[in-house]
Amino acid sequence: MTAAPTFARLPKAELHLHIEGTFEPELIFKLAQRNNISIPFESVEALRGAYNFADLQSFLYLYYQAMNVLRTEQDFFELAEHYLQKAQADGVVHAEIFFDPQAHTSRGVSFDTVINGLYQAVKNSEKNYGLTSRLIMCFLRDLSEDDAMETMDSATRHLEKIIAVGLDSAEVGNPPSKFKNVFARAMAEGLLTVAHAGEEGPPDYVWEALSDLKVSRIDHGVRSLEDPALVKHLTEHKVPLTVCPLSNVKLRVFDKLTDHNLKQMLDLGIVATVNSDDPAYFGGYVDDNLIQVAEALNLSKAEQIKLAKNSIEASFLTHAEKAAYLARIDAFCQAPT
Ligand code: ADE
Ligand code: ZN
Repeated sequence: MTAAPTFARLPKAELHLHIEGTFEPELIFKLAQRNNISIPFESVEALRGAYNFADLQSFLYLYYQAMNVLRTEQDFFELAEHYLQKAQADGVVHAEIFFDPQAHTSRGVSFDTVINGLYQAVKNSEKNYGLTSRLIMCFLRDLSEDDAMETMDSATRHLEKIIAVGLDSAEVGNPPSKFKNVFARAMAEGLLTVAHAGEEGPPDYVWEALSDLKVSRIDHGVRSLEDPALVKHLTEHKVPLTVCPLSNVKLRVFDKLTDHNLKQMLDLGIVATVNSDDPAYFGGYVDDNLIQVAEALNLSKAEQIKLAKNSIEASFLTHAEKAAYLARIDAFCQAPT
């Protein structure tokens, strides 16, 4: 049986996207030159050629290295501006964007520099492209909770620019429970919560993210399917999973796209969404993810539309905003091709 045609530019939300993971080699070299910083690669091609990862940790090593050239508010603005332009061309109507402040403050770049540059791009894209977006501040889980608390201190001056806190970086050995206090504080400040869990780590980490961090969504969560009780909980409570198929193959969570469990998730009734994670490193933006996974798993037209609708439903938009975007998906699907 031939697969249903995949939709390019289907209106959708992107809910799992690290802004530092959109740092394309061309922009890395441009900013390195502008800021007079040397990088240990001779060319854009040589840098791209190094994008072969054995696992999450081997990717993170290069990811944190590349960030070293980001220094000024203008740099952070351009990084986000590039992503938002690309996202708009991909049919993204709303983006909820992670950033990793500790990866910058640890190098002497101030929290204000990072957030003000990113936020300027967020505001511009709403005005210029009609693409709404929100910022999610992630804590690096391989650092201490005290370090996360200091980051939370810096964030208190900028709470109106942030919708939620998240948890990322090296998962195994750094369970969600380690960050219980700082997440409680973020919630007391009025922020929502999400966390990476069940990417490389066990289903227990997903349970902890739900119970200890009170998350609204699980980022990745692909290993949840190993635990039937967890699957039951996720479906009954409609906890969305922000799944990143190309990332999972590039970081060897699955050997190949045809092995991915996204279709199983949909069959089980889990609110799954498709996202790009770190598109500059993993070989594709959100449409590439959707198109390639739909082909690999033979997803029907209805399943592709379901994924787009799930992304809107799982977002932190208001009911009225969600209704407007859902209507745009319907209009897109009904338009003659
Ligand atoms: N930071 C950037 N990408 C990540 C991923 N896939 N998992 C955990 N932390 C990350
Ligand atoms: Zn991620």
